[in-house]
Amino acid sequence: MIDLHCHILPFVDDGARDAAMACEMAEHSLRSGVDVVVATPHCNIEYMPGNYRSRSYWEVFGLFKALLKQHHIPLTVLPGAELFAHGENLEQLLEEELVVTLNHSRYLLTEFDFLTSAEDMSAKLRLIRHKGYIPVVAHPERYKAIQETPEVAHRWFREGYILQVNKGSILGRLGEGAAHSATYLLRHGLAHVIASDAHHPYYRPTGFRSLTTALSRICSAEYAQLLLQTNPLHIISDKAVIPPDL
Ligand SMILES: [Fe+2]
Repeated sequence: MIDLHCHILPFVDDGARDAAMACEMAEHSLRSGVDVVVATPHCNIEYMPGNYRSRSYWEVFGLFKALLKQHHIPLTVLPGAELFAHGENLEQLLEEELVVTLNHSRYLLTEFDFLTSAEDMSAKLRLIRHKGYIPVVAHPERYKAIQETPEVAHRWFREGYILQVNKGSILGRLGEGAAHSATYLLRHGLAHVIASDAHHPYYRPTGFRSLTTALSRICSAEYAQLLLQTNPLHIISDKAVIPPDL
């Protein structure tokens, strides 16, 4: 399986805090059925390294790949980032191509402050698309606006934005609102992808094994395959995502 959203790169955000933890997360991914991970450190958050597309990003990324090789951990790691979209510099970042897309594709993983209004998020998603990217909305089920007004998710789906639900939301580890909203998105066929959004080997971990049982209660095996394998593969290959057909 492919994990499209994971804070596995060490030293760069609130995910893996050092090389040992990053390797532990990589081993956990492999043990639980994930063989490809897209490294998606937070990008453009004020109190963290910027993690923009830069020489320092590629240095850290290259060092991590070398580290895995040195420790004989056969996990494929691809580049990416999770762009925190706020109004002050979004247009500039997009115009200057300072964002790291998912494995060099047109797909851009994007997050918002949890309390951002639906109008504000929608405007930013429009701007991202206008600049030639395909927005992948990170954990829509965690945003208050989606929890309170699920119609917004229907609208985003119709607009062609990709909706990425978190494993932890489905498992009820990210609060009741997120759990309820994640179930809604899956039951209505609005989710395109599930990812771990892992930050730690044990707390918010990598891997999808614990997810299988929970998912089987909510959706079909075919839909689960689309969410965990087919669509992530299409995204990292820069191909069109397949909409769920319930
Ligand atoms: Fe994340």
